[in-house]
Amino acid sequence: MRSKSTKQEDMDSTLTHTQLNPESGIKTDSFYNDVIKGLQSSPKRLNSKYFYDANGDKLFQELMGCEEYYPTNCELEIFSERTNEITNALIASGDAFDLIELGAGDAMKSTYLLKDLLDKKADFTYLPIDISDNVISYLNITLPVTLPGLKITGLNGEYFDMLQKAASISSRRKVVLFLGSNIGNMAVPEAIEFCRELRNNLSEGDMVLIGMDLKKDPKVVLAAYNDKGGITKRFNLNLLERINRELQADFDLTKFDHYPTYDPETGACKSYLISLEDQKVNISGKETITFMKDEYIYMEISQKFTIMQTDQIAINTGFVPLTQFFDGKKWFVDAVWIAGTI
Ligand code: AVJ
Repeated sequence: MRSKSTKQEDMDSTLTHTQLNPESGIKTDSFYNDVIKGLQSSPKRLNSKYFYDANGDKLFQELMGCEEYYPTNCELEIFSERTNEITNALIASGDAFDLIELGAGDAMKSTYLLKDLLDKKADFTYLPIDISDNVISYLNITLPVTLPGLKITGLNGEYFDMLQKAASISSRRKVVLFLGSNIGNMAVPEAIEFCRELRNNLSEGDMVLIGMDLKKDPKVVLAAYNDKGGITKRFNLNLLERINRELQADFDLTKFDHYPTYDPETGACKSYLISLEDQKVNISGKETITFMKDEYIYMEISQKFTIMQTDQIAINTGFVPLTQFFDGKKWFVDAVWIAGTI
């Protein structure tokens, strides 16, 4: 396994590629529409999927390496210590399959599985899906080098669009990885809706390996989203900077503060940016957004679940829970679900 810093440098080298992406015009449109719609809503909100531009990718890498952000370490522990059991569950019947990863990121965790699957001579193609084109070009370039013999097709786009694209490429059995508690970026009703849609995009017998962050000491949770180094704050403010740059807006980043919360009752961990004064922000010379002092922008939810809840979600959305893998502290779970009859 290569060090994080090396990966980060590699990621920098793909920046030019991102800027030359011919599709960026189309993407900018929906980015613009979503931003305007969110900021004209009451209360104001922005979609956390837009955190991940090249700079956001780097900040998230930094976050994963900081002391307080435990989910990555918990899942790394599960993947490094239970590799054999996990891959055996995924290989199951022994037939060829497509290993699809939703929100692959740097693929550091999945690399444990990929390596073991290659060692076991499993017949599979790895299809990482990510919203960041930066991430996908990085994976397409580096993974075949780190993992000789790996068949890889990176897909840059929204989860379900790319899942359908994957299904059109091959009709093999599907194993979907949805790791890192990425599902936590949805409130529970949305997460249920998402799993239902995921099930509808799969066939009976297909599998899902899903990583979910569990409820725990509220102080531990809050600290992970309120790190002393202020990376989470920069991670949130970076979206305003992205809007400034890509949508010609004039957010003054010094006039917003980051406010994270965790509610132990619902398990919802939420991030807000608070306007420090009455102010106006112009976007693209077209729209003016008015902020009152203390007004907030709802930026992100990172939902935490109970173990019971994870099984419930599976059962209610057409899956059969098969196995659960925990870290030593039981802070995080990676669950294997089988697509059932619907
Ligand atoms: C990538 C969505 C799993 O919610 O924990 C980390 C993103 N936000 N710190 C999470 C994030 C603030 C992360 N996920």
